[in-house]
Amino acid sequence: MNTPKTLKRTARRFSLLALALPSMLYLQSALAETPKARTGKQVAETVCMGCHESGKDGAPKIGDRAEWSKRASVGLGVLTEHAIAGVRKMPAHGSRADLSDLEMSRAVAYMVSGGKAIDPDKPYSSPSQVPGGQLVKERCSECHAAGKNGAPRIGYMDDWKPRLQSGVENLVMSAVRGHNAMPARAGMGNLSDADLRAAVVFMLVQPKPL
Ligand code: HEC
Ligand code: HEC
Repeated sequence: MNTPKTLKRTARRFSLLALALPSMLYLQSALAETPKARTGKQVAETVCMGCHESGKDGAPKIGDRAEWSKRASVGLGVLTEHAIAGVRKMPAHGSRADLSDLEMSRAVAYMVSGGKAIDPDKPYSSPSQVPGGQLVKERCSECHAAGKNGAPRIGYMDDWKPRLQSGVENLVMSAVRGHNAMPARAGMGNLSDADLRAAVVFMLVQPKPL
């Protein structure tokens, strides 16, 4: 008989499969369109100019080709990593945690070329420093374990399902840019998009609460 109880039991029996399968499928169809990235010019003019126009604290000036080419000798990938994670008096993400790695790459290209380079399609570099599982345990679980302020809970696929409709890529971008009560980069400005992606994927595939 299909009493609610037996239904529940059956549901539980299939729950592992039911939880694992959709998340796999969702992960595979993760290529939903990404929110529109700002251009290098837009980012440089609104954020980076604050220091890189005047040369504040020794910031290389936009247009100072000699200084930039010296720094760029390590490669744009490394320069971008420094801009993302921060280096000496250069704050992580120029203190704007909501800038994606792609937007940072574009801003770096813009500044290094004195405004001449075309915007890259892909980030030069997304340094991954923290394994997803570690990041989740050390930071994300603080809100995502119990569902603080309505955070989708780890191990509860029903919390994530509606959010997954627009694809994993958009979830990663929400974690990067912030989303309602979810702070940009979980308040850790030096994390790269790759770090956040690893954490999001880790949370999505947990079959049971942590
Ligand atoms: C609060 C001031 C400030 C802001 C805002 C800022 N920078 Fe910087 N940036 C610096 C300083 C200072 C340095 C020089 C650090 C050093 O080499 O000691 C620097 C250096 C850099 C470097 C060279 C790093 C290296 O390894 O030599 C890059 C690339 C860079 N910034 C990119 C950016 C981008 C892109 C933005 C905008 C998203 C930005 N910065 C916004 C202060 C800033
Ligand atoms: C201070 C609490 C807090 C921390 C820490 C936190 N989150 Fe969240 N997160 C939230 C809340 C609250 C929401 C629900 C926001 C909403 O959509 O209304 C959320 C939503 C999300 C979403 C769904 C966004 C969407 O578009 O639906 C993702 C993905 C996410 N968080 C990832 C992370 C990751 C990854 C970490 C750790 C690196 C993290 N969060 C750390 C509070 C937090």
